[in-house]
Amino acid sequence: MSNTFYAPGEQRAAKVNDLFARIARRYDLINDLQSFGLHRSWKRRVANLARVRPGDRALDLCCGTGDITFALARRGAEATGLDFSAEMLSIAAARNRQPAPITESQVPRFIQGDAQQIEFAENSFDIVTVGYGLRNLTSWQRGIDEMFRVAKPGARLIVLDFGKPANPVWRAIYFAHLKMSVPLIGLLFCGNASAYAYILESLKHYPAQLAVAQKMRELKLANVRVINLLGGAMAINYGEKPV
Ligand SMILES: C[S@@+](CC[C@H](N)C(=O)[O-])C[C@H]1O[C@@H](n2cnc3c(N)ncnc32)[C@H](O)[C@@H]1O
Repeated sequence: MSNTFYAPGEQRAAKVNDLFARIARRYDLINDLQSFGLHRSWKRRVANLARVRPGDRALDLCCGTGDITFALARRGAEATGLDFSAEMLSIAAARNRQPAPITESQVPRFIQGDAQQIEFAENSFDIVTVGYGLRNLTSWQRGIDEMFRVAKPGARLIVLDFGKPANPVWRAIYFAHLKMSVPLIGLLFCGNASAYAYILESLKHYPAQLAVAQKMRELKLANVRVINLLGGAMAINYGEKPV
């Protein structure tokens, strides 16, 4: 059955924007519930893989409420979070006003923009990340092309997203969780089952970790790696722009 928030082609962005506008206030809570809090450690893993060096410029695409952006900033990067949802960005920006173990120079900047048409010049960033964002783009390939374009030679490109487990039994169990428990959590805590049923729908249309790795190889990224988490239910793709 198709999902209210999924549409192929050019209508996709408007539907995705509408989805995140509706769930923004409950987004962080539901992330904790549906992943049993594990998303926090996966995002830390992304930030650690980025190997932030003093003075590094980092761009976190589809930053949402800013988890990865803040993690990069805390490690010393001059971090920018980019997202097209005003509602998600306003929550990220509000976190900047809360007392946090972050120094003034580490406060990230958040900007509104389209991850498929990034406003920055080529070779601008030492680190480019995207967490749970690529799957939502009209063209995930275009998203990676843009990550590559704005990355400096030697930059680390890192993608975190839902994956597709290779083991068919585990995949069936995991897809059942996405089909039943996750929308139920969405209904109970956000009053919106469909917004959370969208995760499985979008994943069905996203070729996930293996295709992302293949695309990174086609771009001739160095040290391309797939890090499967929870047996491939989540995955991190890593690569470095050639020097
Ligand atoms: C699932 S959230 C991920 C948020 C955050 N990165 C995280 O890991 O918690 C996906 C985010 O992608 C954003 N997004 C989707 N399509 C986008 C696009 N074309 N350009 C910029 N942001 C986009 C949405 O607004 C939403 O905030």
